[in-house]
Amino acid sequence: MAFGANPEMARLVTREVRKVLTKPMIVKLSPNVTNIVEIAKIVEEEGADGIALINTLLGMAVDIRKRKPVLGNIMGGLSGPAVKPVALRMIYQVSQAVSIPILGMGGISSTEDAIEFIMVGASAVSLGTGMFANPRLPVEIKEGLEKYCVENNIDNISEIIGAAHPDGGAAYRSRLGGYDEFKS
Ligand SMILES: Cc1cc2nc3c(=O)[nH]c(=O)nc-3n(C[C@H](O)[C@H](O)[C@H](O)COP(=O)(O)O)c2cc1C
Repeated sequence: MAFGANPEMARLVTREVRKVLTKPMIVKLSPNVTNIVEIAKIVEEEGADGIALINTLLGMAVDIRKRKPVLGNIMGGLSGPAVKPVALRMIYQVSQAVSIPILGMGGISSTEDAIEFIMVGASAVSLGTGMFANPRLPVEIKEGLEKYCVENNIDNISEIIGAAHPDGGAAYRSRLGGYDEFKS
């Protein structure tokens, strides 16, 4: 069931899980909504320790020979490079409205992509579809980020969280309060 598409359902699910979960809670949000900021603020209010953004976009494909949808379930999740601009936009919007870290994902397939995600407000990134094409992607991105930091005199990657915000990310990093990594 798509709890994430309805703000009040997202509130109730987050509230009930928070009551019983003693571990850190990262709530993953669906991009298939009108107002992602509203839902992000609700799950924060209800005690989320972090937000994961984005899940897949609902899509479909048609087999023109059979004149039928390709997927047995008619619709399915679209992921990979095509969704990256949507993910960046949502992380940019949400990070300016919340005070908890964001785990960014959606079409990351290079170090440069990962840096873009961090600059719009992600504290960490996650890889899905990109690993089907390149199983070494996590290692390559980890090494790429280290190289980028050295070349740009960055001591800690957290320095560039939200760097693409109008204020360079200062307000969001201050709200994170040095708490720029996920609780472990
Ligand atoms: C094969 C596949 C299976 C997935 N299964 C899940 C899942 O069980 N739960 C979930 O929240 N997201 C699932 N996702 C969504 C991914 O975690 C991720 O949010 C999305 O694919 C965007 O990232 P990406 O473009 O790097 O794959 C799945 C994605 C793929 C491609």
